[in-house]
Amino acid sequence: MQVTVSSGNNIYGTLVLPIFEGTDTIGATNEGIPNSLNAQINRVLSEGDFKGKANSTMTLLGTDGGKAMLVGLGKEADATVHTYRDAGASAVAARKKVHGSEFTVNFSTKDTAAIAAFAEGMMLRDYDYDEYKSKDDDDDADLSTRINCNESDVETLGAAVERAAAIAGGVHLSRDLGNCPPNDMYPMAFAEKAEAWAKQYSNVTVEVIEYEAAKRLGMGGLVAVGMGSARKPCMVIFTLNGDQSGPHPVLVGKGITFDTGGISIKPSPSMDEMKYDMGGSATVFGTMEALAAIGYDKKVVGITCMAENMPSSNAQRPGDVITTLSGKTIEVLNTDAEGRLVLSDGLWKAGTDFDAEYIVDFATLTGACVVALGHEATGLWSNDDDFRTRIHDAGNDVGELAWPMPLLPAFEKEMTDSKIADTRNLGAGRWGGANTAAAFLKQFVPEKGEGDDAKQVTWAHMDIAGTYWGAKTNKTVGHGATGVHVRTMVRLITGE
Ligand code: BES
Ligand code: ZN
Ligand code: ZN
Repeated sequence: MQVTVSSGNNIYGTLVLPIFEGTDTIGATNEGIPNSLNAQINRVLSEGDFKGKANSTMTLLGTDGGKAMLVGLGKEADATVHTYRDAGASAVAARKKVHGSEFTVNFSTKDTAAIAAFAEGMMLRDYDYDEYKSKDDDDDADLSTRINCNESDVETLGAAVERAAAIAGGVHLSRDLGNCPPNDMYPMAFAEKAEAWAKQYSNVTVEVIEYEAAKRLGMGGLVAVGMGSARKPCMVIFTLNGDQSGPHPVLVGKGITFDTGGISIKPSPSMDEMKYDMGGSATVFGTMEALAAIGYDKKVVGITCMAENMPSSNAQRPGDVITTLSGKTIEVLNTDAEGRLVLSDGLWKAGTDFDAEYIVDFATLTGACVVALGHEATGLWSNDDDFRTRIHDAGNDVGELAWPMPLLPAFEKEMTDSKIADTRNLGAGRWGGANTAAAFLKQFVPEKGEGDDAKQVTWAHMDIAGTYWGAKTNKTVGHGATGVHVRTMVRLITGE
């Protein structure tokens, strides 16, 4: 969607009017609106036919040809940027053929942050995954939107909209990757997409560690999970502004392009959804795109651990003991707890091969996290309380909730009491499954420094099993992959 910002009252296409609850006349917002449409709008407002409830919409077709879509903002006293973002998304969600391909938005507010959030919501929601539809049955031609504002705000708003569009591109890329069917989205296909993407920017590089190299390097977690598939595993390393020195963020993503469970095979119902099990790697790739597109000029590294978890005669077995890149061994008690195995190598590499200021990993890691938090919030664990709060705050700022969860010594103990190996990939019982998974990952975050100065690299783990898809209350997405946390990470990393 093309969004332009301009001063003046010209209305092109359908007029979109964000309206607070209790508004009975549009007053000052009405400049430039054809008379009959204006009268119609005021009539539905004064008669209470459109109440302005948050995210409700109503379309009016004026007798003189003008069209309007009213979009509810709820109570003015409760309005935040989140209200505006959701309302913008709701306007795009309600778009039908009758609205045509042009929107003009007139706001009653002059608050540029609110207006920019509305535009952001529109752009985020303007997404369909129709790659595999042979017939283009979309009635909606590409939408272009004009935002009317004060002359003095054109520049500020123009810049904010441009940035939001660049970031939305990263979110949409994450969704494209997550929605792609697993016959076409396998580890090396992801790697090839990353390599093709890197060609667009002079300040990014992509390195692919293929299967043979991964074996040679001792990436035992990645290899164990991926070896049972004909589509072999790989690790993809994205670097933005690699010429910069000094500590920098490292993002790590779980990239299971399909999770059958392996030999510990999953039940059939909803198994198709396990194509989203590479959501963590899509978050990393999408974030790299968003950062590159906004022109972020500091160094950031992304590491994605790509594998397909299949049952086969080459697959790992429950009972196997594997040696990971860290040198630590894992007793594999359940091959369906595979995300933590590939991440063990990704986290170790992040903390040892790079000057990590901090590491954040993203993973559709556990069903237990969905049990705990539903589809409303990502589970968030960290070995540093302040860092965890920074991520929690960044998520709140952009409307992507990440809920603090505990990293307790008891859970670590549970995951390290294997009789024959350093760690086990399964808890002793089913309780606290999201927490035991996080405690397991912590074993693979390296320490930096010598002796008494040794300190584990600052690290956070985000379990996006519930938020990467199926998030029905997420207004910015229709269905499928949500692309969650690209915006949280841009906020965390850039501070804006
Ligand atoms: N990919 C799944 C986690 C998952 C479940 C994501 C549901 C999204 C929705 C993961 O690999 C898995 O299977 N985890 C197991 C772990 C268990 C065997 C310890 C789980 O959650 O049941
Ligand atoms: Zn699994
Ligand atoms: Zn999985």
